[in-house]
Amino acid sequence: MSSKKPIATGIKKGREYLLCQCGLTDMPPFCNGAHRKTKHLPFRYVAIETGMVNFCCCKRSKTYPLCDGAHKSV
Ligand code: FES
Repeated sequence: MSSKKPIATGIKKGREYLLCQCGLTDMPPFCNGAHRKTKHLPFRYVAIETGMVNFCCCKRSKTYPLCDGAHKSV
């Protein structure tokens, strides 16, 4: 993931999402398996509600994996 800005994504309650932690995915914010050549593992997130969320891409959010606006000071 090259951008530090959050990525708005529609999610469904109860569904599991694997979020990229290695930066190599070509479908951010989601893992596409590219981490297999690294020591990184994806972050598992289970949605607690259905709707739009902003997934954090700067990794400084105190509410990770959801954005809290921390990217504005990166
Ligand atoms: S592709 Fe980056 S963690 Fe899986």
